[in-house]
Amino acid sequence: MITLTGVTRSYKLGNGSITILDETDLNIESGKFICIMGPSGSGKTTLLNIMGLLDTPSTGTVSIKGDDVAKMSKKALINLKRRTIGHVFQQFHLIPTLTAAENVALPMMFANDNMDGRVEEVLELVGLSHRLKHKPGELSGGEQQRVAIARALVMKPDIILADEPTGALDQKTGANILSLLESVSDKVTLVMVTHSRALTAGSDRIINIEDGKITGEI
Ligand SMILES: Nc1ncnc2c1ncn2[C@@H]1O[C@H](COP(=O)(O)OP(=O)(O)OP(=O)(O)O)[C@@H](O)[C@H]1O
Ligand SMILES: [Mg+2]
Repeated sequence: MITLTGVTRSYKLGNGSITILDETDLNIESGKFICIMGPSGSGKTTLLNIMGLLDTPSTGTVSIKGDDVAKMSKKALINLKRRTIGHVFQQFHLIPTLTAAENVALPMMFANDNMDGRVEEVLELVGLSHRLKHKPGELSGGEQQRVAIARALVMKPDIILADEPTGALDQKTGANILSLLESVSDKVTLVMVTHSRALTAGSDRIINIEDGKITGEI
């Protein structure tokens, strides 16, 4: 589903440069639940953002569903970003002035694809049918993350990328969010960055990264 080949990410720093992801090869199979673990600053977010086309590698190739994204037309790439990949972030990243339903509807607006009843459907899936008109500030942290998951799912993506989705939540709420993600991972390829070994229990693969390099798998 996602293949990285020789992916490096470096930043210019003064006269030199620093490499934060080094010659990474990785193949994520369709339908699997993959966890990425590693110390703070090891490059987990960088790796996830490159997989999710939020960042571009300095060298190497990223292929999604067999297509090298660097060779795709602009239009095909935009379509891929809008329809194939859903993102979930640690800090939810909801728009505070919009209701839950409006936040979830946003990706459909961007894609110009208004699927009737879809917003209600995904909000029901995440257990928030009774909170459609609430704004983020009127929701608990766990509820906000549920809205963010509904937003990630609304376009029926093949892939969900989640960067420490439970990091801002207490343990119990985090466990509920994880179960929710696991339940949707039957239908999507789920890649999740986490600091907690306990949260990786239901995953198919755990990839360890240290200092910008994949050091092994469990
Ligand atoms: N724009 C940038 N310019 C320079 N260095 C950067 C930039 N973005 C990230 N880095 C560096 O790259 C390294 C990896 O960052 P990254 O955010 O991927 O780590 P992480 O594993 O997700 O850490 P955490 O667990 O704290 O979220 C860090 O040392 C960071 O300082
Ligand atoms: Mg990170």
